[in-house]
Amino acid sequence: MIATMHVPFVDLRAQHAPISRDIDQAIRAVVDRGDFILGAAVERFEAEFAAFIGTRHAIGVGTGFDAIELALRAFGVGPGDEVVTAANTFIATVMAILAVGARPVLADMDPVTYAIDPAALAAAITPRTRAVIPVHLFGQPVDLEAVVSVARRHNLVVIEDAAQAHGARYNGRRAGSFGHAAAFSFYPSKNLGALGDGGMITTDDERAAAALRLLRNYGQRAKYHHAVPGTNSRLDTLQAAVLSVKLPHLDGWNAARREHADAYAARLGGRVRTPVAAAGREHIYHLYVIETEARDALQQRLRARQVDTGIHYPVPVHLQEACVSLGYKAGDFPATEAAAARMLSLPMFAELSDEQIEYVSGAIDSIP
Ligand SMILES: Cc1ncc(COP(=O)(O)O)c(C=O)c1O
Repeated sequence: MIATMHVPFVDLRAQHAPISRDIDQAIRAVVDRGDFILGAAVERFEAEFAAFIGTRHAIGVGTGFDAIELALRAFGVGPGDEVVTAANTFIATVMAILAVGARPVLADMDPVTYAIDPAALAAAITPRTRAVIPVHLFGQPVDLEAVVSVARRHNLVVIEDAAQAHGARYNGRRAGSFGHAAAFSFYPSKNLGALGDGGMITTDDERAAAALRLLRNYGQRAKYHHAVPGTNSRLDTLQAAVLSVKLPHLDGWNAARREHADAYAARLGGRVRTPVAAAGREHIYHLYVIETEARDALQQRLRARQVDTGIHYPVPVHLQEACVSLGYKAGDFPATEAAAARMLSLPMFAELSDEQIEYVSGAIDSIP
């Protein structure tokens, strides 16, 4: 009988321990300077993040949700427009579309990669469609070539939802550098996470970047001179300072996640369905999602063995109470619905140990 070991779903304390002195110093420097709103640390991190993703601009905002909403607004998407996105996304993508007054139109996923199915995307386009939001779900880029080519054909704005894909590459280029703009979240458990909320928009578009800098700060062009109606959604300066400390570690953390994914797959392959990374797409395993018929029983057994797991997401967007007005019903997105009943997310973070992976895999093996 193996001793019980608690395996957390993510372990942010383990991530922060080796860099805690750098984080403390970065916070101290902001406190000493006293430039708490859009200060030097925000400018610095924006430049670093743009260079990392490979875009000309990066604009720090309050959350990943705001990043999507403001990117849509910067490209003029609003009431009367339709925006196509994935049926199998986190609710934020759809709520950001609703927030600008546009209509979310959903498309089903490819059951192998969980990425939006380019054929379903094309079929969802109508004369009212203005934009598409592909979501790099779980950390694997969507088929960007196919999505961008459909969008070009129909003259659509592409806003990548890269909230789960910091650093992932598609054919060698970072996700977040393909669309007209991309939205990132720095929610603490993301692959690059702040110590609170945070978000970023990346873009090569000069005009959109300028518009976004106004929109996030009450439309303010000069102190108390407001050019357009805006909002208050600025990346917090302390968070930007912390994110600058973390960014140089991100590729290493992502590489560690990929190694852990390989280790899980080697242990679990055949027993349950393990994630598939498509050719040319570098998966950064924000979430490590397996599939099995007996998902609920497996989750309960793992809980009994003190292994924390998650379900991303148990109820697809189109079946959420908040989205009844979209007019969808059960059966509309069969691949999304089938996966929702079968998916289970296992513990995944850079500092996961071999022993922890072995313990989780062993607990799954032992299930009849
Ligand atoms: C796919 C996706 N889109 C958008 C968001 C929204 O980000 P935030 O929580 O920072 O608003 C998240 C994360 O929460 C996400 O996973």
